[in-house]
Amino acid sequence: MTLYLTTPIFYVNAQPHLGHAYTAVVADAASRFARLDGREAFLQTGTDEHGDKIVQAAAAAGVDVRAYVDEISARFRAAWPLLQVEPDNFVRTTDPAHVAVVQQILQKVYDQDDIYFSDYAGLYCKGCERFLTEKELVEGKCPDHLTPPEKVAEQNYFFRMGRYQQWLIDYIKANPDFITPERYRNEVLSFLSEPLEDLCISRPVSRLHWGIPLPFDQRFVTYVWFDALINYVSGIGYPDGPDFPRLWAGAEHLIAKDILKPHAIFWPTMLKAMGLAPYRRLHVHGYWNVNETKMSKSIGNVIRPEEMVADFGADSVRYFLLREMSFGLDSSYSPEAMLARRNSDLANDLGNLFSRSLTMVKNFAGGRIPAPGPLNPDDQALADASLAMLGDYRDKMRAWAFRQALEAVWEVVGRANRYIVSNAPWELAKDPGQEQRLATVLNTLLESLRCITCALQPVMPTAAGKMAASLGLEPAVRLADQEHWSLLAPGSPIQLGENLFPRIKGKK
Ligand code: MSP
Repeated sequence: MTLYLTTPIFYVNAQPHLGHAYTAVVADAASRFARLDGREAFLQTGTDEHGDKIVQAAAAAGVDVRAYVDEISARFRAAWPLLQVEPDNFVRTTDPAHVAVVQQILQKVYDQDDIYFSDYAGLYCKGCERFLTEKELVEGKCPDHLTPPEKVAEQNYFFRMGRYQQWLIDYIKANPDFITPERYRNEVLSFLSEPLEDLCISRPVSRLHWGIPLPFDQRFVTYVWFDALINYVSGIGYPDGPDFPRLWAGAEHLIAKDILKPHAIFWPTMLKAMGLAPYRRLHVHGYWNVNETKMSKSIGNVIRPEEMVADFGADSVRYFLLREMSFGLDSSYSPEAMLARRNSDLANDLGNLFSRSLTMVKNFAGGRIPAPGPLNPDDQALADASLAMLGDYRDKMRAWAFRQALEAVWEVVGRANRYIVSNAPWELAKDPGQEQRLATVLNTLLESLRCITCALQPVMPTAAGKMAASLGLEPAVRLADQEHWSLLAPGSPIQLGENLFPRIKGKK
């Protein structure tokens, strides 16, 4: 089944930062891994461009809203290639095609009486762009934005979300993998243990003009979440585009915990009302802090992906993000942690292993892959560990356990480095009687490097491409084809490439 993977569409009231970059990198690595694992994959991202927040941000910048959203959306689009994130589609909620689909869905749901008009008074958080319940407040404030919500009383349209509550509970209970990691599934079930209110899905034009007009009442625009969530189907040709059925059947959404409720409650009930099957899975990750503090403009500690890439390169940033955070839990960024990963894991462990091995092949084997003799137990142990690593890596990647998958790879990197020390090829090279043994040791190392390279492709596409080229290989197409020993052709040349991960000095 094709993986159709989405990121949230990001609000254009802020420029891309570390948190957005993490989501984008995870999504990209997961799609690349799916392809390596033999599946087709389609990655979609985009920008969310309607609502109060955007109007305010444009006003603060002193720019016309349309010009403002065009500019910030373009910045998101430009940020991803810097990180080697390659989406197959980029949706904007101001795209006419998206607007048309939102209106079509509203009309359908309205016609079947799942939308009604009513008075409403509630507590509105502008940061969340939604009404909060009393229970959600902490000391009278929104726990995420630390601001008191506004009291808003007006007439609005409502989606009969409550109608689908029991269906949703039953569905989540019957499908344990629907929302993962499990902590978030439990959070949603606990929220659903209280009666669900209907969802207010409109804003009067008098209060907000920057939105999609309701097709059945032009005095109102669509509430931003009812507009934004629909990107996941409008972007792939709902309702009758040729790719829609195939892609929707494999839909998986990736988000952070901040937008769990819209994705785990609003969206499945909306899909139910639309007559569509639920998405297959919701993957929820934690939050990045910076030096143990919340990242925010006012604190002035916002980390920009382009600066990280300029300092460390895209491969190292991707590696850091996937290795440092346990998927689902919060993590803290610091330049020191980034530098440590770069210098210790990448320069010392991986980079040295690669350059040492290839240099020895150049110096002791004429720069060609040597033909191995029989493996002794030490060689066999490295061979077994390398192949077992590929299986283990595949299982962990399939489970979205990126950190653990990389730990499994580094276990073999460490093992291969120790194998060099214990077999001391430079000693074998001095003794003509050990020619066969030397060839076996070097071949075993190169085969192990091939396995490591394959596993790193989804995480560090450029570096892994260079590593493959050094071994005289094209990047691996299928992981399953790599899970064998002795795939390198003896006699074929290796290339001593550039130093992949030079050590970086810390900034003062
Ligand atoms: N526009 C909505 C989403 C609509 S999806 C139909 C939105 N946009 S957002 O710009 O605020 O992006 C929120 C997402 O950005 C999070 O879910 C997460 O993917 C990413 N992150 C933003 N800050 C983050 C951190 N500090 N840490 C990790 N991810 C974070 O919500």
